[in-house]
Amino acid sequence: MHADYGGVVPELASRDHIRKLLPLVEQARRQAGNPVLTGIAYTRGPGLVGALLVGASLAAGLGMSLELPVLGVHHMEGHLLSPLLETPAPAFPYIALLVSGGHTLLVRVDGVGQYTVLGQSLDDAVGEAFDKSAKMLGLGYPGGPALAALATEGDPKAHDFPRPMLKRAGLDFSFSGLKTAVMLAIKAAPHTQAAHADIAASFQQAVVDTLVGKCARALRECDVARLVVAGGVGANASLRAALARRAARDGFESYFPRHEFCTDNAAMIALVGYRRRHEMRPGIVSADAVPRWSLETLRPPVGDVSSTSPARLAG
Ligand code: KG4
Ligand code: ZN
Repeated sequence: MHADYGGVVPELASRDHIRKLLPLVEQARRQAGNPVLTGIAYTRGPGLVGALLVGASLAAGLGMSLELPVLGVHHMEGHLLSPLLETPAPAFPYIALLVSGGHTLLVRVDGVGQYTVLGQSLDDAVGEAFDKSAKMLGLGYPGGPALAALATEGDPKAHDFPRPMLKRAGLDFSFSGLKTAVMLAIKAAPHTQAAHADIAASFQQAVVDTLVGKCARALRECDVARLVVAGGVGANASLRAALARRAARDGFESYFPRHEFCTDNAAMIALVGYRRRHEMRPGIVSADAVPRWSLETLRPPVGDVSSTSPARLAG
């Protein structure tokens, strides 16, 4: 639906949410064998306000009609804790590399609700750089996976693209210069599949080198030996392989949630809802959505003594 426009059209997205959300919730319930529900967690923000309002309204309505308590969850907290959906779950503290279409963040996670942002992108998010480069290569939207597939046919050493911010101190990122370098390379290269594959592979290598370098630096500076990767770009095979190699070399543990827990998913929102279940409140008439919401304003869950030990989902 959005591919024709080369990006998400907010109004189309929220209208589609209205049509699909309730049938989707019912299908998920059926597939889970109609479990007894004890609460409803939904994504309260940050994000596009129209789409958020649809989810918030449905959560509030379901809360009232089913007489269940409701909790609005921070989308990025979901991504940060998504590795806890897997076994073995990482122990705290860990460094999380959160790489999605909207965010590039390095976060120190000391427990549920204890987040320190160490670095972030000063311009484009990594996923956005993937999508924009893919668009320039004529790969459609969202182009990240298509670009990664094309890169497997190319030579990652064909172009020496900039490794943004790697030489500079600190843990921030910048990807707009790399995007420009890709644009210039496309203009100069023949319009063949082979030439485009070389550009894709070299772009991906530059991104991977940058991310791996910054992760290693964050782990060193924080004296933490656990890294988790989350967000849509965390599904990238080349990034996973490079981080696993670096983990073996530098002696840190690395955790990669499976593909469907890396990209946007509802399981991670349910997990946060569960860990914060004592904060759930009865469904109310007005829907609560927050388009801008800082991760660092979050606090540890109320009444959860296990918030700094590994997640236990049972019980
Ligand atoms: O976390 P996510 O599903 O949605 C949000 O942005 O919140 O991330 C989507 C982003 C898109 O930019 C998409 O192109 C990128 O993740 N992505 C990938 C891959 N799979 C998804 N980028 C590179 N390689 C992939 N395999
Ligand atoms: Zn996301």
